[in-house]
Amino acid sequence: MRKITYKIERFDGVNNFVQEYSFPYQPGKTILWGLITIKDSLDPTLAFTAACRSAVCGACAVRVNGQAVLACETPLDAILERFGDTLTIAPIQNFKVIRDLVVDWEPQAARLAEAKTWLQPRDEFDARKGCRQTAADFKKINTQAACILCGSCASECSKLSANDQDFLEPFTYSKVWKFVADTRDKSAAERIQAIQDKGLWKCMHCAECITKCPKGLAPGEDIARLRQLSIKMGYTGNPGARHALSFVKDIEDTGRLNEAKLQVRTIGLISSIAKFPMALRLLRRGKLNPFHFPGKVKGHEQIQAILKAVRESEK
Ligand code: SF4
Ligand code: SF4
Ligand code: FES
Repeated sequence: MRKITYKIERFDGVNNFVQEYSFPYQPGKTILWGLITIKDSLDPTLAFTAACRSAVCGACAVRVNGQAVLACETPLDAILERFGDTLTIAPIQNFKVIRDLVVDWEPQAARLAEAKTWLQPRDEFDARKGCRQTAADFKKINTQAACILCGSCASECSKLSANDQDFLEPFTYSKVWKFVADTRDKSAAERIQAIQDKGLWKCMHCAECITKCPKGLAPGEDIARLRQLSIKMGYTGNPGARHALSFVKDIEDTGRLNEAKLQVRTIGLISSIAKFPMALRLLRRGKLNPFHFPGKVKGHEQIQAILKAVRESEK
């Protein structure tokens, strides 16, 4: 009889250990079915969370062979076909593990609350009239409104894994953008101001949050939207904004990037000089050419025309 094996990364409150469970294969099942089968028939001490079993509550996210998925909607057959009949199941990353596959959402909930991710209704609304908006206006935010707080994006976020002290969970940025773009909300300016020192320019563009979201959100793109609006609102005095503006200017001027100029424009001459030892190392390894002053690329006017068209479309 064909058997499936789950190697589960467990935690009993003190010790981490891996436990293997094998059980009979059944076609047409999900990752969550396997966990429930183990709990019901092999080991009632295994801890995991799940409620709706319909990809609605967000409780069942786990890592399967190193990638966050919603256990209740992930077809087992597709995963077995890709990885074979033995799977590693682990709790989502970048969360504190309470027990086995159960993680603590309290710190993340507190960070969400700090970012004030709830509607602050415009003054014309009141309890009697409610907060209505047109279908067209809702359409602008309905993707972000679909977030079920499963944590999959945060689990695979490269920036959070490197350092979570100066960055928020990707879903938090999507929620901030949702309220910034919500025509019923009156606090867009305050939200943009508040996000300035909350890691807005620290995203590493790895796009893991986009590929992992089971609801089609793209937190990395929402971060880009927040950055664009932030620049439009005049928040240009930080390295992130200076880097972005300098990048566009180089492309507009010549169609090429001048990395030496980019560095100086981004962090200033003094800080650039402080980075001289690193520049020297890059130079030695042939990664930097101080005499490289790129001229205009062929067809440079077409690049300028594209940039002009983009600017027109954004008006
Ligand atoms: S694109 Fe940015 S927010 Fe998304 S996972 Fe990568 S670092 Fe995190
Ligand atoms: S943005 Fe997507 S992956 Fe992230 S918590 Fe929301 S639903 Fe889950
Ligand atoms: S059990 Fe609710 S989303 Fe999976």
